[in-house]
Amino acid sequence: MRRKLTQDDFQIMRKAGQVAAAFLDKLKDMVVPGITTKDIDTAFDTFLQNYKEMSAAFKGYMGYPASLCVSVNEEVIHGIPSVEKILKNGDLVSVDLGIKYKGLYVDTTSSYCVGDCDEKVLRIARVTKEALDKAIAIVRPGVTVGDIGSLIQDFVEQNGFSVVRRFVGHGIGEDLHLPPEVPNFGIKNDGYRLKAGDAVAIEPMVCEGTHEVSLLENDWTVITADNKLSAHYEHTIGVTEDGSIVITG
Ligand code: MF3
Ligand code: CO
Ligand code: CO
Repeated sequence: MRRKLTQDDFQIMRKAGQVAAAFLDKLKDMVVPGITTKDIDTAFDTFLQNYKEMSAAFKGYMGYPASLCVSVNEEVIHGIPSVEKILKNGDLVSVDLGIKYKGLYVDTTSSYCVGDCDEKVLRIARVTKEALDKAIAIVRPGVTVGDIGSLIQDFVEQNGFSVVRRFVGHGIGEDLHLPPEVPNFGIKNDGYRLKAGDAVAIEPMVCEGTHEVSLLENDWTVITADNKLSAHYEHTIGVTEDGSIVITG
């Protein structure tokens, strides 16, 4: 059952959100050519040891074998960290992580350009981040998931990219994934209407080419069907009486 989150709940989530944000910020310096995606996973485990009651929310979730997801270039989501995956100059890397703290969850993602990247890489990362920022700016009680989805879709498509349909954002709080679904596409005024005490993970997954995706043989990692680039940003947002708070900001 999904319940209304209280101010106290939001404060707990905010603490975990700040830890998540601090780690993603630290990655700006750490994500350089030559490191492996497993190094990022290990760094997160080490970082979380400073926060005794916090744990990596993805570890073991539906059998997921790592603490976070690192998706490189054509990988859209759920890239599994590996010692064999070495980052190289020009790669586009998204790091998605969740933290569980005092029974509540937060979920956030940032994309990184490794070393010197093509303008195309920089642009898809920038457009994805801007799409998320624009969506966050409209969140308040009464806004629908269709308002959010249509805003993201319109902005992304105006910039010549596409939005993934197969995977969507979600409610979050006492579980990592809760209703409602928060698609990155849709129609204004349609769907669930947000209210104070809700928390949602808004997470544009943006593709350079087709929005169609396929699944790797590890049964986790989602890649673009045309093997072109994909970027991903995500924040957990709390809906308050008079607007919203970026819990993972
Ligand atoms: N972080 C993903 C999301 O944004 C979910 C990852 S679940 C895992 O909703 F099991 F792959 F970790
Ligand atoms: Co996530
Ligand atoms: Co999410």
